[in-house]
Amino acid sequence: MNRRLKRTAIGASALVVAVLVTTLVVSQPDEPLGAKITVPQAQDSDVDPDIRTPPPTSVSVILPSSPIDTTIAAPPPPPRTPPATSAHRQPPVQSQPTSPRPAPVDFQAEEARIHKGSVQSNHSGFTGSGFVDYFNEPGGFVEWTVTATATGGTDAVFRFANGSNAPRPMAITVNGILVSSAAFPVTNGWSDWRTLTVHISLLTGTNRIRAIGTGENGGANLDKVTVVLPPS
Ligand code: GCU
Ligand code: CA
Repeated sequence: MNRRLKRTAIGASALVVAVLVTTLVVSQPDEPLGAKITVPQAQDSDVDPDIRTPPPTSVSVILPSSPIDTTIAAPPPPPRTPPATSAHRQPPVQSQPTSPRPAPVDFQAEEARIHKGSVQSNHSGFTGSGFVDYFNEPGGFVEWTVTATATGGTDAVFRFANGSNAPRPMAITVNGILVSSAAFPVTNGWSDWRTLTVHISLLTGTNRIRAIGTGENGGANLDKVTVVLPPS
């Protein structure tokens, strides 16, 4: 190869290297599109002085602006949480209005009307101030006056003791109507108080509940009657 051809080859190689360097730098992904970047170029001393248009010391490249906005849009702000005003707050759970549950009411025997019997307290376990001791003959009774605000069926719970050796038959009437002929059973002594329940119907207003000893020994000792009054 002659001398001139060799020089030309060297110059051309330098130019190719410069273009490659330029391309590589332009391809840097970190440069934003549309930015002006400066790429350092080879110095005169590096290339053949015979090349008539020496490369500039630097080239400026203006990257085309992208028509597409490649910026990643910031996510939209989260919806504002509404302030906890009374308009947004969950209303408190409202309990449904209910009728008050009817409570059992005690009616003491010693406070009732007593026929052929007496108030005693010689056996323990009674409630109130004592109990009724029926005379040992038929026909004695205890009668309670119970005022109801509504008509309805309910239970009358009689608390009694029968320390004898035989059941004591008794008639239960409500407003003069017989509702039960029950034998009050023997209990474990006169201080052993048990209950006997009779289903009755009460009328609105005053009701008379009567417990009549129908046997020859009269009724069992009677402490009280408990009634759940019909709800109004
Ligand atoms: C006894 C007991 C009385 C009871 C009576 C009866 O006397 O003390 O409480 O009433 O027996 O058999 O009725
Ligand atoms: Ca008696």
